[in-house]
Amino acid sequence: MSITLRAICADITTLAVDAIVNAANSTLLGGGGVDGAIHRAAGPELLATCRTLNGCATGEAKITPGFRLPAKHVIHTVGPVWRGGEHGEPALLAACYRNALELAAQTGLETIAFPCISTGVYGYPPALAVPCALGAVKEALARLQGIREVIFCCFSEEERMRYEHALNMKHKD
Ligand code: AR6
Repeated sequence: MSITLRAICADITTLAVDAIVNAANSTLLGGGGVDGAIHRAAGPELLATCRTLNGCATGEAKITPGFRLPAKHVIHTVGPVWRGGEHGEPALLAACYRNALELAAQTGLETIAFPCISTGVYGYPPALAVPCALGAVKEALARLQGIREVIFCCFSEEERMRYEHALNMKHKD
C-alpha cells in the first residue's frame, strides 16, 4: 500500500482527518499557538479530558477524541524547547513524530496531520526541524501498518515550500 506524504498550508483545526497532532506543553492544559487554536476549536471537553492524562513528557504522545473538531482525534505531543541544539533536541523532536505515528497506528488510524512542532514558541529553527520531522516520519512509516496519509500542515507558504523542497516535489499552482 502506498503512503502519501504531502505539505499543505492551512489551519490544522479545519482538517477532517483521523487525527491532528497538537504541539502541546507538558501540562497538556492548553497554551498559545496551535495548542490554543486546537483547544478553542475542540471545545471545553478537550481540556476536561486532558486534565485526566497527567501531562506528557517531552517527546511522548497521548491521544484524545477530537470533540468539536472535524478531526476524529487529537494526538498531543510535546516538542523540545530549542536550546542551541546540543541538548538532545533533534532526538526529542524525532521522538514526537515517531510516538505520534505509533499511537496512530495502534489506534487503527489512517490519516494524520502534523503542525511544524517546536518551530513557534519553542524556537526550533525550521530549517533544521523540517528534515528532522521528515526523516522521523519516513523511518516510522517503514515499519508501521495502516497509515495511508501524512499531512504536514504548515502555517505559512514559506514553511510549506520548505517541506515541498524536502519532499522533493515540484511546486504546482
Ligand atoms: N494550524 C497549523 N499550524 C499552526 C497553527 C494552526 N492553527 N497555529 C500555529 N501554527 P507553536 P511550539 C504553527 O508555537 O513551538 C504553546 O503555547 C506555528 O506557526 O504552536 O511547539 C504550547 O502550549 C508553528 O509553525 O508550538 C507550548 O507551550 C507551529 O504551529 C508551546 O506553544 C508550532 O508553533 C509549544 O511551542
